[in-house]
Amino acid sequence: MKLIVTESYEESSRVLADMFEEVITKKPDAVLGLATGSSPVGLYRYLVQDYKAGKLDFSKIHTINLDEYEGLSRSHEQSFGYFMDKHLFSEVNLKEENIMLVDGAGDMEEQIKRYDDFLEENPIDILVLGIGNNGHIGFNEPDEVFWAGTHLVKLEEETIKANARFFEKESDVPGRAVTMGMSGIVNAEKVVLIASGKAKADAVCRLLEDDKIDPMLPCSILKVCRDAVVIVDRELYEQTGRDENE
Ligand code: GLP
Repeated sequence: MKLIVTESYEESSRVLADMFEEVITKKPDAVLGLATGSSPVGLYRYLVQDYKAGKLDFSKIHTINLDEYEGLSRSHEQSFGYFMDKHLFSEVNLKEENIMLVDGAGDMEEQIKRYDDFLEENPIDILVLGIGNNGHIGFNEPDEVFWAGTHLVKLEEETIKANARFFEKESDVPGRAVTMGMSGIVNAEKVVLIASGKAKADAVCRLLEDDKIDPMLPCSILKVCRDAVVIVDRELYEQTGRDENE
């Protein structure tokens, strides 16, 4: 697992976008694994900007998102599908049939099977991950075990609180979500986690402090990924109390 410390969230986003753009350019039909939340917003902004500047072509690109709230369809403003439409899909020449999203309002069993079938046939070339304050990735919450396949998760109180900022009130946040499991993540050719902000410092510190893979810290699975990169800005890194030259 490689660590990159940048000067700012902006720089982290540019470094991350360069990694995505390298894959898109080298492999025009690549499968991009995508995340939602505030962390990847800068990445999507750069991808849209560079697409509009004529540097990128998404016409053969496939995408698959990490997760979705149970009960929310793509037209719901707080759904991750809606978020993706707004920040990326409606802005570039991606084909609708090449976009893989969970329909949170659909039949769960069917959605889960659709996702796992897709991932088995279409391993991800590059995957962006944000990180929850408790170390979750996608919606893989701390647990006694890691779950391999796509599955339904009961969200932690802390996650509901943290994500309430996107909803009118906390009680509007769905209590459950569907998430890609660890096999989709570990099978990705490259995985890049971007973290920014004080609230993530504890989880990032725990991720960097030893060599353990612990389901109570879901992001620790990155240690078994073949090419995993963690990008943090200096402000967050300083919060971890670590010495950069360690
Ligand atoms: C949600 C998403 C995660 C994301 C996390 C952090 O829980 N399911 O994929 O990483 O939020 O979000 P943010 O980047 O807004 O801090």
